[in-house]
Amino acid sequence: MDVGPSYVMDDVDIVNINQYSTLTMSTWVIEMPTILITGGHKGLGLETTTRVAQLGGFDIVLGGRNHSEVSSVAHDISAKYGANVRTVDLDVSSLASVRAAAGLVQNLVQDGAVAPLQALMLNAGAQFMGPVEYSPDGYEKTFATNCLGHFLLLNLLLEDIRPHGRIVFTASGTHDPDTMDGKMVGKAEEPDAVKLANEGKTGKPLSPGKRYSTSKLCTIMYAYELDRRLRATGSSFRSIAFDPGLIVETSLARTAPPLMQRVARTGFAKRLVKTLGVTMGSLAFSGDALARVAIDPAFARASGKYMQSRNGQLIETRSSAMSYDIERARKLWADSETLVGLPSKAQGA
Ligand SMILES: NC(=O)c1ccc[n+]([C@@H]2O[C@H](COP(=O)([O-])OP(=O)(O)OC[C@H]3O[C@@H](n4cnc5c(N)ncnc54)[C@H](OP(=O)(O)O)[C@@H]3O)[C@@H](O)[C@H]2O)c1
Repeated sequence: MDVGPSYVMDDVDIVNINQYSTLTMSTWVIEMPTILITGGHKGLGLETTTRVAQLGGFDIVLGGRNHSEVSSVAHDISAKYGANVRTVDLDVSSLASVRAAAGLVQNLVQDGAVAPLQALMLNAGAQFMGPVEYSPDGYEKTFATNCLGHFLLLNLLLEDIRPHGRIVFTASGTHDPDTMDGKMVGKAEEPDAVKLANEGKTGKPLSPGKRYSTSKLCTIMYAYELDRRLRATGSSFRSIAFDPGLIVETSLARTAPPLMQRVARTGFAKRLVKTLGVTMGSLAFSGDALARVAIDPAFARASGKYMQSRNGQLIETRSSAMSYDIERARKLWADSETLVGLPSKAQGA
């Protein structure tokens, strides 16, 4: 295979992010490390998986709960691009499933079926429009799916990532109540893990929109808190939050009424929300951007940052004021450790 020059991921500053150009073969590392992506068989994640496979140079592990669907996508991508694509059964809303999946990933690496992990892309996500539902562990399902499962997965796999590896969290502009993205979905509330995990058990639950936007606020706070912990230990890993912008073509809103889904996908609706100031992404651009953030050396300095796909540009921007609250993030992390059954580690430990 004709490969481009090798880069150590840390050697390159973030330059010309706004001069965005499509990721090319000359910008990736030539060893064959592994990218693990959750929700990589559908929507945004599928675009990203396809992009990484097209580039070549990476083994790919798809983590998903629908075995036949995920396997079929893995087979298709393998056949089309010649990539080594493996799958692990993973329901991120179930802590038992996450533990089992982490073990399966470790086995794949130990058996040499895939190369060591280079990037963990915590991308799976869901919105639950109806009444409050609970995960197999008894936690509110939005928080369990978007937050706790990924939190456990990353903690279980962190020591398996190779030097200069990256952890990329798929976030959302909806987390910021001061933006139109946040206002349209529902204002994010306190990132209180215990309260969010038990939402609806007593008193009136948060609206589905608020449950989603708050879960994305927590996602970003995990990314920043992880970055602080990595820096404190001198780790070479990078922890980055990525907002793909609004992409109406995915199945994220699948629990919304069908008519609402159809209307949201019309050209008129897209123009309207764009005019109102919503951050617009697209499947092709945001999928490529997510791949870039995970593997392009240009993003080696993006740890602790919020990268956003906005109207065809990939930019570093500020997330909400609350997302930078260090004390809240520490508490969120510590409470999440308790909720998923991990021993508590003080920051910097
Ligand atoms: N679309 C947007 O406008 C937008 C904007 C900002 C952020 N995002 C974020 O982007 C990410 C991808 O979403 P998308 O828009 O591509 O939606 P999507 O098409 O619905 O894809 C979501 C992916 O997550 C997986 N997933 C959901 N629940 C899961 C679970 N319990 N266990 C394992 N996998 C699960 C889905 O798998 P199944 O097929 O098994 O359900 C699917 O592969 C999400 O984190 C979302 O919050 C999306």
